[in-house]
Amino acid sequence: MADAVLRFEDREINLPVIEGSENEVGLDISRLAAETGLFTLDRGFGNTAESQSQVSFIDGAAGILRYRGYPIEQLAEHASFLEVAYLLLYGSLPTKSALASFEDSVTRHTLLREDMKKLFEAFPHEAHPMQILASATSALATYYPDALDPRNPEAVDLSMHRLLAKVPTMIAWLYKYRAHQPYMYPRNDLDYSANFLHMVFSIPAEPYTPDPVVAAALNVLLILHADHGQNCSATAVRLVGSGDANLFSSVSAGIHALSGPLHGGANQEVLDMLEEMAAGEGDVSSYIARAKDRNDPFRLMGFGHRIYKNFDPRARIIKQAATDVLAKLRIDDPLLDIAQELEATALSDDYFIERKLYPNVDFYSGIIYRALGFPTDMFTVLFALGRLPGWMAQWKELKEDPKTRIYRPQQVYSGETERAYQPPS
Ligand code: SDX
Repeated sequence: MADAVLRFEDREINLPVIEGSENEVGLDISRLAAETGLFTLDRGFGNTAESQSQVSFIDGAAGILRYRGYPIEQLAEHASFLEVAYLLLYGSLPTKSALASFEDSVTRHTLLREDMKKLFEAFPHEAHPMQILASATSALATYYPDALDPRNPEAVDLSMHRLLAKVPTMIAWLYKYRAHQPYMYPRNDLDYSANFLHMVFSIPAEPYTPDPVVAAALNVLLILHADHGQNCSATAVRLVGSGDANLFSSVSAGIHALSGPLHGGANQEVLDMLEEMAAGEGDVSSYIARAKDRNDPFRLMGFGHRIYKNFDPRARIIKQAATDVLAKLRIDDPLLDIAQELEATALSDDYFIERKLYPNVDFYSGIIYRALGFPTDMFTVLFALGRLPGWMAQWKELKEDPKTRIYRPQQVYSGETERAYQPPS
């Protein structure tokens, strides 16, 4: 494809055209500042790609999401979360023997050092789980300092396996600490989802068998959250990694980014909003009216997306899964009915139609997490657990890309021009 040509005053530059494997077209402006002194301004990077990536493909108009070319619908139906994690990290689905050794390696790293308990216990019991998780993830670099070199492939592999293995235990332990309950240790005879449920919900006083329906639903939810291209938190992970920070520090930055209510924190906000509606603090139409009111900062949480201008394919699967799981568990949750009424009302309203605002991954996920027994303030750490392999795959891709440069955006300065110092008068 021929270069694009940019002309500005007496300046002109040819911009090479980059074509992706799915026919996306990008203009390479890498030489723009050097050759013209000009640079671009793009708030929120809505028009800018920092890199070429092979991890996930998203078609926002068609509502398509694929991990390494595999449609999420097929992975959610047939794969295990660790299979998908392997796919994201290594680029292809594992053979049976590769999956077995990957599962074995992750299983053998699920224990935490005993002295990490002091870290959890240093927090107030009411601390938000995302703040504790981000701190504990960063602290892993101090408890496991022997494999931090981001340029050593063996060290990176060990740290990735440690993170996949230890984050469920850390989430379970922070949950137990906040609930004033004893810590439960991993069981090597359980698979990833069942082991996590065991560590969160079992108590020493009685036997506990993870419900296979709950474990299967959790497996699907983790897969659906596993990666999503250059979203806010993945960009945070890549940005911190671009400075050669270690994997634990980089993922900790991603957890902080995800905690924001405009990003992963939305799944908790959706449940809080639905519970307010259920408590009679306003009906669906009043919330729709508030969401449309430019003078009201309220947004319909779980709705809208930077990329999806059609139904988020993950929301479609999660919506069906919510109905199925509640039926299997014989739970009648009025919040599901309210959510469906809210969705139907919004999708028939011109404000949402014109702006192409549809339910996103966060709109229905909380209803399932709640049915699985998790408290609302744990929802976003569950999103983080699912996103872990995606963050690591994005970080690994960045570190292995010879074209990687430290992230250092330009700015258009609009402050004071030069002025002389005056001592205080
Ligand atoms: C995730 O990027 C990813 O991939 C993220 C994610 C992932 O997997 O990593 O998919 C996960 O973060 C999902 C999004 C969860 N957040 C929410 O549900 C919070 C509510 N949604 C919004 O705040 C918003 O839709 C965003 C943040 C998701 C997207 O914001 P954009 O792309 O910057 O869109 P915008 O703010 O420019 O909105 C465009 C218009 C505006 O109206 P006008 O100025 O044109 O009149 O749409 C309006 C917005 O006011 N709008 C909403 C709205 N979302 C956008 N109005 C009411 N309710 C909403 N939810």
